Amino acid sequence: MKDHPSQKVKFLNLFGYTGVASLFALRAGAEVTHVDASKQTLNWGKENQKVSGLTDLPMRVIEDDVIKFLEREVKRGNKYDAIIMDPPKYGRGPKGETWKIEEMLPKLLSQVQKVLSDKPLFVILTSYATDSSPLSLGYALEQAMKNFRGETEVGELCLLEKSNKRNISLANTAVWSAK
Ligand SMILES: C[S@@+](CC[C@H](N)C(=O)[O-])C[C@H]1O[C@@H](n2cnc3c(N)ncnc32)[C@H](O)[C@@H]1O
Repeated sequence: MKDHPSQKVKFLNLFGYTGVASLFALRAGAEVTHVDASKQTLNWGKENQKVSGLTDLPMRVIEDDVIKFLEREVKRGNKYDAIIMDPPKYGRGPKGETWKIEEMLPKLLSQVQKVLSDKPLFVILTSYATDSSPLSLGYALEQAMKNFRGETEVGELCLLEKSNKRNISLANTAVWSAK
């Protein structure tokens, strides 16, 4: 995966919430940075780390507005090999910063571009704004990843309604992975 086997994959979870994706990455051996605006959800994340028996693996947990965090990371020169973004349609940063996906997705993706390592492994983006399409989400991610060799797949995240075997759409998703 990395040029040198002892190098850890640097994984960034933006809008990380209760941290399930972060914990999977941690367990898989990644160096994890987990960002969310809400102290309460970050505490749930730490609790989940404890009950998952993963406290011996350090995780960088940061309470911040995602855009401000990324701007700081760009200045610090920090880079990531894998990034997951699961933004809400509408949200608030810790200091009341407004997050609106339809207005701020371009800014989010342009900052993400600047914190990617030379050889990123994957970038995943979801959107609960299901009034826009998976295709448009995919095109936005593809455009952001145009300088890297890889491919973008799109789809919908669904819950299966067991009684009549229909999928209930919850979110759109776009996945870029290195080739
Ligand atoms: C849709 S949830 C993420 C769900 C999570 N990834 C999961 O799989 O359970 C959105 C999260 O974004 C956070 N959030 C909202 N606005 C934010 C902002 N401006 N900066 C950072 N986090 C924000 C919320 O606190 C919330 O935890």
